[in-house]
This record gives sequence, structure tokens and C-alpha cells, in this order.
Amino acid sequence: MKNKTKLENRGTFTGKIGFVLAAAGSAVGLGNIWRFPYLAAEYGGGIFLLVYLLLAVTLGFALMAAEILIGRKTGLSAVSAFKKLDGRFSFLGSLASIIPVIILPYYCVIGGWVMKYSATFAFGEMNAAAADGYFTEFISNPIQPIGWFLLFLGVTAVVVLFGVEKGVERVSKIMMPILVVMVLGVSVYVLCQPGAIEGVKYYLVPDFNNFKATTILAAMGQLFYSMSLAMGIMITYGSYMKKDVNVESSVHNIEIFDTGIAFLAGLMIVPAVFATQGVEMAKGPGLMFIVLPKVFAKMPGGAVIGFIFFALVFFAAITSSISLMETVVSIVKDKFKLGRKLSCAIVLAICLILGIPSALSNGEGILSGFKIIGFGFLDFCDFASNSVLMPIVALITCIFIGYVLKPKALIEEAEAEGNTFKAKRLFTVVIKYVAPICIVLILAFSILEACGILTV
Ligand code: TRP
Repeated sequence: MKNKTKLENRGTFTGKIGFVLAAAGSAVGLGNIWRFPYLAAEYGGGIFLLVYLLLAVTLGFALMAAEILIGRKTGLSAVSAFKKLDGRFSFLGSLASIIPVIILPYYCVIGGWVMKYSATFAFGEMNAAAADGYFTEFISNPIQPIGWFLLFLGVTAVVVLFGVEKGVERVSKIMMPILVVMVLGVSVYVLCQPGAIEGVKYYLVPDFNNFKATTILAAMGQLFYSMSLAMGIMITYGSYMKKDVNVESSVHNIEIFDTGIAFLAGLMIVPAVFATQGVEMAKGPGLMFIVLPKVFAKMPGGAVIGFIFFALVFFAAITSSISLMETVVSIVKDKFKLGRKLSCAIVLAICLILGIPSALSNGEGILSGFKIIGFGFLDFCDFASNSVLMPIVALITCIFIGYVLKPKALIEEAEAEGNTFKAKRLFTVVIKYVAPICIVLILAFSILEACGILTV
């Protein structure tokens, strides 16, 4: 059986709470705290938020329910699940497996940045971190980002190799709520700063002039990324779910959890950009690292709060990277029929090959001049996985469910053992029509735009 390693000694989730927490644990990570706010800032604030929320309650709901139901119906993880449902679609499981392989290396690069900032605050160097240019200097350095990347990757690999998941899970249950409280606290503090209100407006009030085709693509990619969709993870999780647990309300809970944290992270970071004077209105991956140290530096007790904050983000990141690596290791193990240690070694090698160029491609780094369709290497991996491959996997999944397997089969699974599934029509319409049409249009537009053929 595939992908079973992580949960194998637990059998099935004990009930709904266990399932929702495990899925939310995978979903909540750097995607929520690092990626969501910078995309929101980049793609027009309120309009991005609106598009994201609309997509979350339609596409996100339908796809997450679909993946979980496929898992629960077959009792298998992605590759074997599609094979069992229809041999012609087994390629879909393999396609989905490529995505975490691309994500993991650069996830560890960003994880390394978070570690670096935790250490900087731990050593009481907050003011240095808050200085202009600190971040750019750090990511442009030829050695430092690689060192931190290796450290983060190393920690992830050690945990995956020795498998202390149980401990990690137990600690997550304590750390994640603390993280939520911290994010709430920092956002309240930021909101009380002079000038923040402009940022709140930018973040909350949609301005349709900022709307572009890439806004939807970015929001859609973020949705898949944040909810760990389109790479088979939720299929695996669903395969461990008991039949008497209500899928619909579980999906709602996971969505509220995941979107809530992303929303708050945005509320903490976007207004801070406006409130902190002298910030080079940084858009892009560096946003969290440039803006937050400045916020902490101004806060009473900021050195300690800053340290706790980055330590918690590190924690959220490492739990996600562990489950990402676990996924990739089990894919390699099953695909090539190898032992666990050897599979780990292969995955490590892939991470080094893809991660080192990612670590060097930012700021003024040595590889920053190397562009693929206008993206630096890290950004390219991010774009290729989230904006191209994930939508493609989601599209084929929808076509498969909508026209081959038929939504009814999954709705019946959702209604097993007397459970209710109210959003039947929504589910069917989204899977059969809305999602495929949207994804094709958006993909076409944005690829053209990314290649510079079209300027919207
Ligand atoms: N959802 C995670 C985040 O928001 C990233 C992620 C995507 C992930 N797919 C995953 C994590 C699979 C674990 C497993 O950061």
C-alpha cells in the first residue's frame, strides 16, 4: 500500500476531530503565513481576497471533497486509487506525484529563511534584521541561504528518516493554537498603528481596476497550494477516514481553519506594509521577512515576540515540509520499489539539485540573472507547480469525476451510513462545468501572459 507510512501505525483517524486536525495540519504552513499575504499584496489586495474566497467556497470545496471521497471510497492513496477507479486514469496519480517533488526543494529554501530569522531574533539582533536592505543582502549572499536551506532540509530529513511523527503531531496540537493567537495579537497591534487603515482598505476593499486574469490564476494556485490539493495528499488522508464521519462538514472545518489563518496573516502583514514608513514597498516572496522585523522593532517587547513568532512559523513550516518529504519518499519508494533509506537519499539528492539553484536565484544572488520565462529559479518552480501543474491535475481530476466516474458515485460515498451531503448540486455543477471551464480559460490566459504574448 502506498503513502501509508505516516499514518500506518494509527490505522484510521479516530473521528472527525482527528481527521480535521490532521488535514489542517498539512494545510496550514508557509502557504498561509508567507505566501498568501505576499500574493494578496501583489495581486491587488481586496480583489485578490474576494476572488480567493469565492474560489474557496466553490472550487476549493468541491475539489477537497472530491479528493477525500476518492480516498475514502477506494481506501487507497493517489496512484493506486485512480488505477482502481479507472485504469486509463492511473497517469493522473503519477502526474500529481510530480508536484510535491517540485515544491519540496524550494519550500525548504523558504523554511531556511524562516530559521535564519528565528536565529537572528534569538541572538538579539532584531535591529539588524529590521534595517533596510538586510533581507536583500541575506538572500543575495552566495553561502548563507544555502547553509540555512541545508539545515532546514537536514532537520526535515532526520525526522522523516527516524519518523518521530507522533511527537510532532502532539506538539503541533499545542503550537498551532499558539500560532493562531500570535497572528491575531500581531494583527491587532499592526491595526492600531497610524497609517495601517490605508492598508486595511487596500486589503479588504476590492478595487476592480486591479483585476487581471493572473489574479484568478494566482488565487487558484494559492488555493490548491494552501489546501494541499491536486497532489494526492487529501486522497491519502481520505483513505484513513471512517465511513461514519461527515465529509461535507469536515471540509468546511478544514477550509475555515486554513483560510482563517491565511486571512489573519494578510491582515497582519499587508497593513504593516502601509504603516511602516521607509519600507521599499516590497512585493514578492520577501514581504514577510522585510515588513515584520520592522513591525517587531517598533513594538514594545518586540525582540521576544519576534523570536516566538518566527519560531512558530518555523514550526508550521517544518511540520508541512515533513509531510511533503514523507509524501515524496513514499512515491519514490513505491515507484522504484526501493527501501526507505535509499528513497530518502534519492529525495535528498533531488532536493539539493533543485534547492541550491533556488537558494541562489533571489535578490542579487549569483543565479539571479538566470531567468526562465521571466522568473528566477525559485519563482519558476513555484509558478510551474502552483500555476501550471496543479491546475492541470485539478482539471483532469474534474473531467474524470464529472464525465467518467460521475459525481453521483462520490455523492453516494459522502452519504454513506446516513450522512448528509447538502451541496450536491454545487458539487456537481462545479466539478462538471464551472471548474473545467474556468481552469482552461485562466490557464490559457496566464500562460500567454507569462510568456509575454498577451498583456492584459
Ligand atoms: N499546504 C501547505 C502550506 O500551506 C503546503 C503544502 C502543499 C503541503 N502541499 C502539501 C504540505 C502537502 C504538506 C503536504 O504551506
